[in-house]
Amino acid sequence: MEKTYEEYKGLVDRHLLDLMPSVDSKSNTLYEAMKYSLSSGGKRLRPVLLLACCDFAGGNVLEALPYATAIEYIHTYSLIHDDLPAMDNDDLRRGKPTNHKVFGDAMAILAGDGLQTTAFEIMSRDMTLYLDDMEQLKKRVRAANIIAKGSGIRGMVAGQSADIENEKNRVSNEMLEYIHTNKTGALIKAAILAGLYLGDPDDRMIECFSQYADNFGLAFQISDDILDVTGDVKVMGKNPGQDLKDEKNTFTSLNGLDKAYEILDILLGNALEAIAEYYDNAEFFADLVNKLRVRDK
Ligand code: IPE
Ligand code: IPE
Ligand code: MG
Ligand code: MG
Ligand code: MG
Repeated sequence: MEKTYEEYKGLVDRHLLDLMPSVDSKSNTLYEAMKYSLSSGGKRLRPVLLLACCDFAGGNVLEALPYATAIEYIHTYSLIHDDLPAMDNDDLRRGKPTNHKVFGDAMAILAGDGLQTTAFEIMSRDMTLYLDDMEQLKKRVRAANIIAKGSGIRGMVAGQSADIENEKNRVSNEMLEYIHTNKTGALIKAAILAGLYLGDPDDRMIECFSQYADNFGLAFQISDDILDVTGDVKVMGKNPGQDLKDEKNTFTSLNGLDKAYEILDILLGNALEAIAEYYDNAEFFADLVNKLRVRDK
């Protein structure tokens, strides 16, 4: 592991638009809408995790960029759609007016569609470069499959659907965990596992990092719930108080702030424990856990 979070993030930021196919000038508005939401302001957590995991498992970080790019495109599409009036109806994202506020609802929907399909175009185009190298091709097919699953109807979209369907109803803690694990945890876990498989992981590494991902991914959404209550718009780049406005089920609305902090702590402890045997080499991943703790207190 050679790089810091900021260094991986720098790599992502510098190359995020490199793999975007050029479009006909008649589709310029669509292109601008897609670029608008991709441009700086995001933490780039998922692509950074993917690159760091690839590095950790001995893979080539630069060759993993198409997959890092794809996962950030998918995440960004999910944010554009999440902010739409028909979903969470938010006005501010990444420190700027939300996509639909600038481009209108219809173009925001299409920008999201464009980002999602482009993600799969970028990954599949990369795979075509390795059609004669079965070993390299296998890694890439597997990474793309993990990303598809994590973002789709057994992952992020499933969680978003349960989140929307249960607005204004108080759900069980089991349902709340289902929502959070899927809407947010699944794509984070996909970033981690896809990154590892782009390297050369052994079974034990996959097992430990799956545990890490399950706990860190859920903790990340709990921390997002907490920040919606305690956070500062200038730091977050989005308005707090949105969950209350939308009558969302969150760890704070169902359990209270203190209990949410308590659960967050337990999950972060579990995440650290899961990778304890890698401690000497896995400082990057331990730091990320601790950053989530600090970010919230
Ligand atoms: C926001 O994700 C939506 C959630 C899944 C909680 P991030 O907090 O990673 O947002 P950006 O990418 O930094 O804007
Ligand atoms: C969003 O959860 C998860 C996504 C898949 C986008 P939230 O609705 O809590 O995310 P924010 O708070 O708007 O970023
Ligand atoms: Mg939402
Ligand atoms: Mg939202
Ligand atoms: Mg939120």
